Parts: sequence; C-alpha cells; structure tokens
Amino acid sequence: MLEGAAGPPLAGDEFLGAWDTQPVSALFDKIHATMPADAPGTLEPTQVADLIAYIMQANKFSAGPAELAIGADALKQIGLVAAKPAPAIAAGGSTLTFPVTGTLNQVMRGILFPSSNVLFDVQTKDPSAGSKGGTAKGDATTTSTRYGDVYSPWQVVDAAAISIAEIGPVLMQPRRCENGKPAPVDRADWKQYVQGVVEAGRAAYRASQTRSQDAVSDATNTISDACANCHRVYRDVSSAATRCTPP
Ligand code: HEC
Repeated sequence: MLEGAAGPPLAGDEFLGAWDTQPVSALFDKIHATMPADAPGTLEPTQVADLIAYIMQANKFSAGPAELAIGADALKQIGLVAAKPAPAIAAGGSTLTFPVTGTLNQVMRGILFPSSNVLFDVQTKDPSAGSKGGTAKGDATTTSTRYGDVYSPWQVVDAAAISIAEIGPVLMQPRRCENGKPAPVDRADWKQYVQGVVEAGRAAYRASQTRSQDAVSDATNTISDACANCHRVYRDVSSAATRCTPP
C-alpha cells in the first residue's frame, strides 16, 4: 500500500506534500542517485521509471497513454502537485521550552560554519570519488577524515545541507550576540535573511540528492549569498559594538 512502516510513506498527503510543485524528474533523480540505501546508483533508469509509475499509481495520478518516459525533458513536464500542502508537524503543540546556550557567534561557529564548509568542499572534492582526508580549517572532524567511516561522503553532504535548512528556529530564537546586544529577531529584514538561508539550505539538499558535484557547487553560491546578505547588515559593520543592531 506504500503507507510506510519500515520507512516513510510513499503515498498520500504526507508523501506528496513533501514533493509539491516539484517535477517528476526530481523524484527520478533522487531515486536513481540515492536508492536503494545500501547500494545507491545500482538501479537502471527503466527500473526507476517503473518505480515512479507505481508510486504515481498508488497516489491516484491518472495513467497516461504511453509508458512513463525516462528522459529528463519529458519528466520535467510532469509536476507532482499535492492536493494539500505538506502538513506541518504540529507546531506550538508543545509547552516545552529550551534554554539558549550560545551567543550568536557560537551558533555560527558550531553549526553554520562547519556545515557550509562541508558544502564548499564539494567544489573541489567530488564526494562520488569517496575522497577522504579533509583537514581544512573549520572541518567538523579535523582529527579524523572529513567523511569519517560512518557515513558515505554524500550522506555527509546531505546532512550538512539539512543542518542549514533546519537552522530557522535557532536563528529566530531570542539570544545575544557576542557584544551583548540581542539578535534583532523581530525585524522584518532579519526574518527575510533567515528565510533566505533556510531556502538556500533546502536548495543545497535538493542538489545533494542528485549526487551531482556540479549541482552542489552551484548551490553553494546561493548559500554564500544568503550568509552574506545578513552579515553585510548585522555583522560586517564598522565596529564590533554595533553588530546585531539595526543600521
Ligand atoms: C540572519 C542573519 C545571519 C545569517 C543568515 C547568517 N549569519 Fe553568520 N553571523 C550573523 C551575525 C549577526 C554574526 C555576528 C554574531 C555575534 O557577533 O555574536 C555572525 C557571525 C558569523 C561568523 C563569525 C563567528 C566568529 O567567530 O566571529 C561566522 C563564521 C558565520 N556567521 C557564518 C555564517 C554562515 C556560513 C552563514 C550561512 C550559511 C551565516 N553565518 C548566516 C548573522 C547571520
């Protein structure tokens, strides 16, 4: 039934919502590049097309007159449009609150800096080549190899993109900057910069899912722009004392 038990569902709103407005080619690329999890890249394009046809049937898309094509151009024409947008996981349903532990600078050093470095590294090191040994400054794993032995290089790239895509709530939580000024989380431009970096992280994740070094390299330009947009206004100012204050 593709309802999901051992994994997430592949039918219904929860599945479709996550793919809403995306072309079928994106689903094709994802399956082709990342599935099956223990032997990614081993499916023939025709097998991927068969899987997609089956998933679309289960999601009640009407069948076309011909077999689903496997060319990217044809698959870009078909959109996976959900009836409803992706259901947000109950926000605000919890009364738990968490303390803020770091200054904004510390959050940047701890999360955004190492994650974006993993992505920037893709420009020069193809994760498909299984390259090891990243010792660049800011490497999250300086003492061992960049990708470790636990996850495949592409999984590490996925994870870096995800940590940027999920940074929104952390950057919107009231906290202080190193100079003691509160981060201006109530300002419209701040919200816009946070949304920009979240979007850039999501785009990087989509790029990473295609397992293409070029696609991720392109996405890193969007990441640096998104970081720079906020830094220009709130970080790279004339004196440390005026960081985090509206211009
Ligand atoms: C919404 C605004 C905003 C966004 C988006 C943002 N930053 Fe920052 N960043 C800041 C501010 C403000 C500071 C200075 C904080 C302080 O002084 O406590 C800072 C500081 C930093 C620092 C300096 C830490 C230090 O030790 O001096 C680094 C590195 C950094 N950011 C990386 C990034 C990266 C990489 C991205 C994008 C993936 C990013 N930031 C996105 C606002 C932002």
